[in-house]
Amino acid sequence: MTKYVINGGRQLRGSVSISGAKNAALPIIAGALLANDVCRIENVPKISDVTLMLEVIRGLGAKVRLINKSTVEIDSRGVRDIPADDDAMREMRASYYMIGVMLGRFGHAVAAMPGGCDLGVRPIDRHIKGFEALGADVEVNGGRVYASAKGGRLVGAKVYFDDISVGATINVMLAAVLAEGQTVIENSAKEPHIVDLANFLNSMGADIKGAGTDVIRIRGVESLRGVTYSIIPDQIEAGTFMAAVAATGGEIMIKNVIPKHLECIAVKFEEMGVEFEKGDEYMLVRRTGKLESTNVRTLPYPGFPTDMQPQISAVLCISEGTSMITEGIYDNRFKYMDELKRMGAKVQVDGKVAVIEGVKKLTGAKLRASDLRAGAALVIAGLCADGCTEIRNVHFTERGYEDIISKFKGLGADIERVELVEQDEMADVG
Ligand code: EPU
Repeated sequence: MTKYVINGGRQLRGSVSISGAKNAALPIIAGALLANDVCRIENVPKISDVTLMLEVIRGLGAKVRLINKSTVEIDSRGVRDIPADDDAMREMRASYYMIGVMLGRFGHAVAAMPGGCDLGVRPIDRHIKGFEALGADVEVNGGRVYASAKGGRLVGAKVYFDDISVGATINVMLAAVLAEGQTVIENSAKEPHIVDLANFLNSMGADIKGAGTDVIRIRGVESLRGVTYSIIPDQIEAGTFMAAVAATGGEIMIKNVIPKHLECIAVKFEEMGVEFEKGDEYMLVRRTGKLESTNVRTLPYPGFPTDMQPQISAVLCISEGTSMITEGIYDNRFKYMDELKRMGAKVQVDGKVAVIEGVKKLTGAKLRASDLRAGAALVIAGLCADGCTEIRNVHFTERGYEDIISKFKGLGADIERVELVEQDEMADVG
């Protein structure tokens, strides 16, 4: 067990470099298995979800070699059509990409139902609907998904999603690239990582058009080849640093970003009084004056991302006036508000809506993270609070943020990662 200890109240200053995008890296690592060849993936974030995904593909016979801190070589020539490891699959949501990949490459897949952060019910019915449209029989039995293509190979088809799903769009893309004929995905998700995955697969020889719009057309090809590919920067990690400097005040340079991907986040912080200067691959973020309240509704891209909802809420807790947050994606993404209340935040949650009445300051407290982005929000709250904040359950945060402690320290924060010995854990339970 580990905790973060933060002495708040220091303004952030300096520069920080953003790592590769978690939600692009996971499907790209899975997608590398579609080629019976070797891929070199660059700008891979060093986070625990990536470690788990590499474990899943190793279990299927892929050879994985770390070339350097952020480059991974994946040799998929030895991959076999065996069930994916149940334990690793259950640990994270993105493991479901193995179903699309194995179905596309071998015509059948067996995998445990995925796990992931607890944000309310997270079914995979849209993924299954997509696989079935491509001619697969899919059965869920005893916690596992059994999928097999009638006739041994998937056949391209029209897939219409009633509601947008990032994961189902990606999974159908992964399954369809090696299918026979054309697949058209309508009402597809448009997130930057969907475009990144399409670019990766196209560089391997796939024929995908329209990624980034709500209609994606995929012409199936016979095979894919190995490539070298560099993952896009993480939009949410960059947004988290924006939120942090908004909360503490100061000025930071966020490097290695695609500013276009950050517009949907920056626009809300601008409404709150945060200033931005954009370059080709950087954003300078400054907050010198007071913070204003604003209303936020989370939506699929290019709307304000749900994965930034906890972080902006932490900032709104110390903004002047009343803000309303409406969660448009998940049923239950406000659990962390109880922790913010321990710090003096004034928040009322009613279903998918939270009303925040800004207070002058938060005060340090002992907190527990309930999921990945909740953990990030508590770090932000701790950085701007008076006094000392301790955050437990930080393994959630480390699923998606590379070197979060050293990056914040580099910006002048007083934050430490402390390994707990058994005695500390007992004291905490008591
Ligand atoms: N949904 C269904 N049925 C499905 C699929 C989704 O009902 O078959 C529901 C979900 O329960 C949710 C909504 O539809 O309420 C949207 O889910 P979506 O499929 O778009 O999300 P996801 O693919 O499971 C990815 C990210 C999440 C991010 C969402 C939304 C990965 C590995 N995860 O999840 O990231 O919140 O898209 O942008 O890419 C995170 O990084 O912290 C995180 C939770």
